Parts: sequence; C-alpha cells; structure tokens
Amino acid sequence: MPDRIAIVGSNMVDLVTYVDRMPERGETLEAPDFALGFGGKGANQAVAAARLGAHVSMVTCVGDDLFGPRTRQNLADNGVDVSHVRSVAGTPSGVAPIFVEPDGENAILIVKGANAHLSPDDIDAAQDTLKRCDAILLQLEVPLETVYHAVAFGARHGVQTILNPAPAHPELDLSRLEGLDWFCPNESELAMLSGMPTDSDAAVLAAARSLTGRGIRNVIVTLGGRGARLITQDDVIQIAPVAVEPVDTTGAGDAFIGSFARFLSGGATPEEALSRAARYAAHSITGRGTQSSYADAAAFDAFCRDRDAMAAERR
Ligand code: RIB
Repeated sequence: MPDRIAIVGSNMVDLVTYVDRMPERGETLEAPDFALGFGGKGANQAVAAARLGAHVSMVTCVGDDLFGPRTRQNLADNGVDVSHVRSVAGTPSGVAPIFVEPDGENAILIVKGANAHLSPDDIDAAQDTLKRCDAILLQLEVPLETVYHAVAFGARHGVQTILNPAPAHPELDLSRLEGLDWFCPNESELAMLSGMPTDSDAAVLAAARSLTGRGIRNVIVTLGGRGARLITQDDVIQIAPVAVEPVDTTGAGDAFIGSFARFLSGGATPEEALSRAARYAAHSITGRGTQSSYADAAAFDAFCRDRDAMAAERR
C-alpha cells in the first residue's frame, strides 16, 4: 500500500497576473498576461504529494459558488481522495489574487472564504481516515483552533504532524503545538514566531532551538537561495540550495512541503527527503503557476537525471 498522507487545510483559486512591474498606488497599469489556476497552500501540498505517488486525502471546505465543484474535481483528477471536502452554503470559495514580476518573484493576497469554516468538527468527522495516515500536513490558511486540534489528534493517535506556519500568523500559540513533529517556517515566519532575529545562520539556529525547547520536535527552516536547515534537539543538517533559472516562484514552498511529506512517509531519511524536496521545489519554479508547475514522479525523475548528468559533466 502506498504511503498515506492527509492534508487538513486550504484550497484557493489563484488569479495570477504577470506584471512588468507592480502598479503605484492610484495608478492603472496594463499587464501582459493572466492565468486562472488551482492553488491554496493545503491543496498545493496535496497535489504535490499525490503527483509523486502518495495516497492523499484532503480535509477542506469549498464555497457553494462556481469554483467549489471545480476545486473538488481538480483534487479528484489529481488522485486526491475528496470524501472529506465539505461545501459551505452561502459562502464563496477562497481566492488568491497573485502578481508575478519578471524575475519570478510574487506578491499574494488571500481571501479565505470557505476556508475560514474548516473546524475541529471536520477533523473529528474524518478521524477514521486520519488515524490510518502516516502524516497529517497543516498550514495557516484555516482557523488556528482547527490546527491545534489536528496537532493534538496526531499526538494522541501516533500520526506524525507537519505544520507549515504560512502565511505567518502572529497569534499562533506555540504552547498549543506540543507534540508537533515537524515545524517548517521560512526565515521571516521563524523570526515572527520565535520573536528572535534570523539575520545570520547562527541566529536562525538559536531561533529554531528556542522552538525545539518548547515541545516541537524538529524545525525545518527554508532559506530561499541558501537552501534549508533541519534543526533537532541535538543536530543541525544543512540542505544545499538547488540553482535554477526562476520563471515563477509561486507555490515553491508548498511543493517543498508536500514532496517532503511524500518522500519521508515513503521511507526516506529526513535528510534524503529534504534534499529531494529541495529539488522538487526548484523544478516547480521553472514553470508558471502553482499546481500547474508541479511535476509527477516521471517528470521529476527526468529532472533529477538531467541535474545529475550536468553535475557529472562538470566534474
Ligand atoms: O503558496 C502559494 C499559495 O498561496 C497560492 O496558491 C495561493 O493560493 C496562496 O494560498
């Protein structure tokens, strides 16, 4: 049986505008291109893990507008189990206006819509599925109470939990994450949540250690062009960056987390899983959009073979 992963989290419809530059306040500016796509940090992580071969279930809420059924269908088309996708009457689906600049960097607004209705009751309703999983993935585009409930559920039932605290939420109560297995912030999220600077490698380490001392087992900090660090109670592992020519960086963090969960629950060591996830995320930024840029297992293997061949030629 393939590894089983559950995502308790968000879905959005991404409204992606490709701009030459961001408009000034009060300015109307023509943009060269636009695309509508499926996104949301939770759904992105679900699709990444599923495309790589995991058996994925998603616990999420969609609106009762035209995006709701399309979102459910998109998840199903990607092989994600949608038995725990709930439609919320009288509520719009989540949407994310996204602006991508020529260097591939993005700015994102999110309107949570139905995602704000995902509740602890949804977790209880899905408990039979969740208990059978190797990992539960969480992000912060749904209510914090739901996140705390899922972490406690995982700890009680021996299912490892992975929390990507994005977007950063200043009210996240770390004392309610007791027993969390993997906490995966980027540098700025780590700074906000630890209340400590993260402007050097030593500072990142100290900030992450302040969390491992508070009941969180492992911290994975993503550092953009500097790779990532895995910080445990007694170890630090450096994950090298993977250089590519960026086209669109949107959703790269989700590609990293979703693929990490898949590789880890598929039996890789944490270090191997992170190194492969760094490659998977790098591949995603060579294409446009969020889920539209995620490779399946065959395309990812081909990308890795090419990278290895290039590295061998350079030696
Ligand atoms: O991480 C990228 C995602 O953030 C986008 O897909 C958008 O929907 C927002 O949730």
